[in-house]
Amino acid sequence: MIDSVDQGFDLGCLPTHRTKVCESIPITTRKQRLLTLKKANYNLFQIASRDVTVDLLTDSGTAAMSAAQWGALIQGDEAYAGSRSFEQFQNTVQTLTGFEHVIPTHQGRAAERLLCSLLLKPGQYVLANHHFDTTRANVEMTGAIAMDLPCSEYQKDDPSAPFKGNIDLELLEQFLSQHAPSNIGFVLLTITDNSAGGQPVSLQNALEVSRLAKEHGVPLYLDAARFAENAWFSKKYDPSLARRSLTEIALSFFSLADGCLMSAKKNGLANIGGFLAIRDQEITDKLRELCTLWEGFPTYGGLAGRDLAAIAVGLEECIEEGILRGRIAQVHRLGNALVSHGFPVQTPFGGHAVFIDAARALPHLEPKDFPGHALACAFYLEGGIRTVEVGSLMLGRGIPDTPDFVPAEREWLRLAVPARVYGNDWCDYTALVGRNLLQNRSQIPPYRLIRSPERLRHFTATLAPEFRNVLPDVNECRVKGTPFVR
Ligand SMILES: Cc1ncc(COP(=O)(O)O)c(C=O)c1O
Repeated sequence: MIDSVDQGFDLGCLPTHRTKVCESIPITTRKQRLLTLKKANYNLFQIASRDVTVDLLTDSGTAAMSAAQWGALIQGDEAYAGSRSFEQFQNTVQTLTGFEHVIPTHQGRAAERLLCSLLLKPGQYVLANHHFDTTRANVEMTGAIAMDLPCSEYQKDDPSAPFKGNIDLELLEQFLSQHAPSNIGFVLLTITDNSAGGQPVSLQNALEVSRLAKEHGVPLYLDAARFAENAWFSKKYDPSLARRSLTEIALSFFSLADGCLMSAKKNGLANIGGFLAIRDQEITDKLRELCTLWEGFPTYGGLAGRDLAAIAVGLEECIEEGILRGRIAQVHRLGNALVSHGFPVQTPFGGHAVFIDAARALPHLEPKDFPGHALACAFYLEGGIRTVEVGSLMLGRGIPDTPDFVPAEREWLRLAVPARVYGNDWCDYTALVGRNLLQNRSQIPPYRLIRSPERLRHFTATLAPEFRNVLPDVNECRVKGTPFVR
């Protein structure tokens, strides 16, 4: 633990790691980026990483592993069944979550597929604060219906409310009272709530959700991809938890649920992996059958033994107070810099990303113009910075200008910070690029969908800018004063 008292300043804001292995950061010209963007059909998922200077697309699988994790990789036991690495993985997950049964999967969405395929029937509901996009798709693949019930503080963007990931308890109770338990597959709490800005769920909210679910005979699962950040915020914002350790707080959340699914690519600090951790033996047996069919024998579940070993170490590290403090301080540094340049940003900041309110940042664009995506393309074009829209392109339905079009609740641009990867200078650079974009915002054009798949369209859709109410050809019109990167 860092002792900041004698130093006279807050050491907690400094990075918690030093560099042991380094990787060059690609520098490109604006002309190259323009060509790259056009070739990618204005879809940032289609751009090669060699063309990206600061990659804030996701914190998923992009963390820098520690020396201890790399060491564990070498120790990995590659036995098909019952490897040492599985035992290490299982012990760690059992200790962290309190759940007895552990099933590894190759990543979070595989855990979603197993759980949804087993528990859901067509027409049933899954009730969540928010479903992540792959979770929603996995629910819908079974014919079930994914319902998001976010709390009103999230909807109203209330900066004084620190737990915007909470589920709306009134709506949940109403829904549970109006439907027979057999019509509801399960309740899902996503901690932290990625789609709502990486916002935490309070322990109080989770307790109430658990009480309601039990009262109505419906199982409760946690999507625990960022459980450690959720524990951090719970300790910070809930005075009753101030003296409890992060591990204890995390355990309190898990103790309320029937099981959890987790992508280990986020707080697990691993580049691949996930798992299900379950209380009930019978459900576990059935899940293990599906795992064998789709993922592999249940003691490796789609992962190499070395991956299991590295995830086990990552899971131990991620809940360490010092590591979390450094991580969250960096996200908040980026958020504060963007706010100081005038960006409308969700506050308090979440744990893994800064969410810019693109609808307010670009008031000349409507939801059907995909303002979050427009801003994402502008960040790339002007600064080589890759971010992701979490708005009507990712979460909306139907094609704009048709009766089927349903915009998303919010038009966010998410700047996700990979753990332990970039120096703070790159956060400052990103904010400076943003400042110049904001000063020239009227030049940022709307975007039109050219081709769109039915599900998870943001990954593969093709788009194009439309130069309506903006300068004749914005592509030729450089946003002035972009720093550092030519
Ligand atoms: C909250 C949440 N759940 C599930 C997933 C899916 O995990 P994976 O990418 O490992 O399939 C993600 C990925 O970003 C997520 O953020």
